Amino acid sequence: MKYSLAPMEGITGYTYRRAFESCFGPMDQYYTPFLSPNSARSFMKREQKEVEPAHNADLPVVPQLLTRNAEDFLWASERLAEYGYKEVNLNLGCPSGTVAAKGKGSGFLSFPEELDLFLEKVFRESPLPVSIKTRIGRNADEEFPRLLAIYRKYPISLLIVHPRIQKDFYKVPPRREPFRLAMQDSPFPVCYNGDIFCREDYEELMSEFPDLDMVMLGRGILVNPGLLRELRGGAPAAKAELREFHERLLDGYVEEFRGDRNLLYRMKELWTYFRYSFEEPERCRRLVRKAGNLAEYRAAVNEIFHMETVRPTGGFSFGK
Ligand SMILES: Cc1cc2nc3c(=O)[nH]c(=O)nc-3n(C[C@H](O)[C@H](O)[C@H](O)COP(=O)(O)O)c2cc1C
Repeated sequence: MKYSLAPMEGITGYTYRRAFESCFGPMDQYYTPFLSPNSARSFMKREQKEVEPAHNADLPVVPQLLTRNAEDFLWASERLAEYGYKEVNLNLGCPSGTVAAKGKGSGFLSFPEELDLFLEKVFRESPLPVSIKTRIGRNADEEFPRLLAIYRKYPISLLIVHPRIQKDFYKVPPRREPFRLAMQDSPFPVCYNGDIFCREDYEELMSEFPDLDMVMLGRGILVNPGLLRELRGGAPAAKAELREFHERLLDGYVEEFRGDRNLLYRMKELWTYFRYSFEEPERCRRLVRKAGNLAEYRAAVNEIFHMETVRPTGGFSFGK
């Protein structure tokens, strides 16, 4: 089985990836949160930092692009090839209302003919192999067979399926039947993504899809960075390991960001998930929320790691 870390905007940037890999790796593949190439023909500062080769040295990283414009995609694909990346990923899943309203991410799924033309140009001209991360439709599951027929016209390096539609966001259970359709006689490798939070979730998935050989993990890792090791048959993360991971991540953000504001924003965002690693997530939330600067944040985290007990894994069902 191969495992990848899902792209998660605002969380799984290069600092997170490096902290994760050093504590709980190796992850087989990492995807960057989406970059939005546009006609300006330059990456934004944040995006440039994200794909800077030095920031991703020795990690298997695939940059992800969010656009409906083939020229913009190809421009970015060329830059990324120059940086030494081996693959680029297309985002056809972002459920955000503003993104979808512009016909990008899951919004692009509403325009199958335009999507087909886009893919035709991209697959003809991209210097890098292209993988796709897709939802099963914009408005209804029934859109998926048509989308799949379009995908199957192209030599996609990997199709990652998050079997929900746009309006599901990250709630309601992912659908198994459309995923089965994607697996059936697929001309390219297929990866499953959605709601794998513990070993039981994984085993249930594998019992339905014994031929599956790639799974993308998202919030399950944010909650419990030891999940990858557990899925590989290893021991759950001990509190000391979670602490070590947290410290490396925090040190990384101190280096990445000037000033406390961005850093606190990032760490608080992480705790919206990470708190479920502890017996009393609500208390963790309150403690972390109050911190107004780095010193207060460190004190809050000290308290959490002293007072809190790590939850046994297995019964967790975040988002379901
Ligand atoms: C905070 C957050 C940010 C996300 N950002 C992205 C993104 O940049 N690109 C993308 O394709 N998916 C993004 N996603 C979706 C995840 O990659 C993944 O498909 C989703 O969380 C379902 O997988 P999970 O149940 O394992 O978390 C994001 C999800 C979350 C929760």
